[in-house]
Amino acid sequence: MTPGGTSLHHQTEDLPPLVSRAVELAQRLSFDFSCRPEQGRLLQLLAGGRPGGVIGETGAGCGVGLAWMLSGAAPGSQLYSVECDRDRAAAVQELFADQPSLTVIHDDWTALLAYGPFDLLVLDGGGSGKGSVGTAVEPTLALKPFGALVIDDFTPLTTWPPAHDGEVDLARLHWLMHPDLLATEVVLCPGMSTIVAVRRG
Ligand SMILES: C[S@@+](CC[C@H](N)C(=O)[O-])C[C@H]1O[C@@H](n2cnc3c(N)ncnc32)[C@H](O)[C@@H]1O
Repeated sequence: MTPGGTSLHHQTEDLPPLVSRAVELAQRLSFDFSCRPEQGRLLQLLAGGRPGGVIGETGAGCGVGLAWMLSGAAPGSQLYSVECDRDRAAAVQELFADQPSLTVIHDDWTALLAYGPFDLLVLDGGGSGKGSVGTAVEPTLALKPFGALVIDDFTPLTTWPPAHDGEVDLARLHWLMHPDLLATEVVLCPGMSTIVAVRRG
């Protein structure tokens, strides 16, 4: 989760129109946990690299990350996002009612898996194993071969094994060392990194 992610978009110029629309919704609902613009641009780029792809996201929030992906997705792509908060899910459904390539589901994150396997899967509200590794998505079930996985909101790696609050960071270790994935950490701005992984064929 990124406190300030919505607000940071106000300092960013040339936002895609769909992103501005979602930021306005987030502001209206006082939801400041949208992805940061740097993460949005990464999602836009990755979505654009999957023509005709099936793209999934856990945790729609107010649709800011989704808007970045919609802005980059090639024609023929299908996007699915799941959000457990009833009001936010309804608001994003209404906001993007004119986007036929997008389906927003009101449910727990596990419901998203029925729409996979995915060419690109963004874990931003369940499935990342951050609370407990047992709650992590299984890449060979959720991703197509060579499908990509994105998990944000890490602090850049400074030690090995990675640590968080003085403990070994088991969630990060899980993804970086996963036998079915090629994974790396991308530093997007000072103090924030994202794990990007690809399922081995
Ligand atoms: C960090 S925000 C998502 C931000 C959004 N992806 C973006 O890029 O702007 C996390 C969202 O995940 C939702 N969430 C948390 N746990 C969830 C779960 N188990 N299933 C579905 N959604 C969940 C929260 O309600 C919240 O709206």
